[in-house]
Amino acid sequence: MLEREIKFRRLVIGELNPEMLLPFQRYQEVNRVWRVIDGERKLVSEPFVDNWDEETKAEIVEQDFKHCLLGGGSVICAEDNGKLVGFSSLLRQLFGSESQYADLMQLHVSADYRGKGLGKALFAECARQAKVWGADKLYISAHSAEETVAFYRAMGCVDALEINKEHVEREPFDCQLEYVLNKG
Ligand SMILES: CC(C)(COP(=O)(O)OP(=O)(O)OC[C@H]1O[C@@H](n2cnc3c(N)ncnc32)[C@H](O)[C@@H]1OP(=O)(O)O)[C@@H](O)C(=O)NCCC(=O)NCCS
Repeated sequence: MLEREIKFRRLVIGELNPEMLLPFQRYQEVNRVWRVIDGERKLVSEPFVDNWDEETKAEIVEQDFKHCLLGGGSVICAEDNGKLVGFSSLLRQLFGSESQYADLMQLHVSADYRGKGLGKALFAECARQAKVWGADKLYISAHSAEETVAFYRAMGCVDALEINKEHVEREPFDCQLEYVLNKG
């Protein structure tokens, strides 16, 4: 089983390297996306391919990962024999009217490793970490692609009760979701 060979660990700032995402395949063929039309949420056909070039990958490491780690957040990666095949980043600063939300900024699995439980495992790691930090919920500004939203719904995410305006301004088509952390 592939999952047994995958190692999950937290990145530390000293190991950030602009080339670390080069083997990562963001490639995603999107066919249908969620849109709000006349106040109703609908799945509509909008075919496109999402992908990252080398420059974008380097920016993610140098800007997003660095920002996350410098702020005390966690970047969790899944590695197959040292190759980064999935990652998630969770910001340390809680937000919301009662500081209830921890921001799950990124969660991606390399195209060749999808559908094997890695996304679920990365999500669970973030949920565990957010609980330790005292959050009540994860907040996710999710890509509106049908499959992406289906993944988060399968994890137990629901529509966010409080909407984060910054996320909406940055990605107006994203679906704003939350996940209630089990306090047990
Ligand atoms: C979304 C993503 C993170 C899911 O990771 P993954 O490792 O492929 O997902 P898992 O194998 O852990 O799936 C867990 C559950 O999610 C659901 N799910 C996963 N992929 C799905 C898909 N393509 N369509 C519908 N449901 C899906 C299933 O219920 C699955 O459980 P099951 O395998 O028991 O049926 C990954 O596919 C990905 O990186 N996609 C492209 C980038 C992206 O959308 N990132 C999120 C941006 S906000």
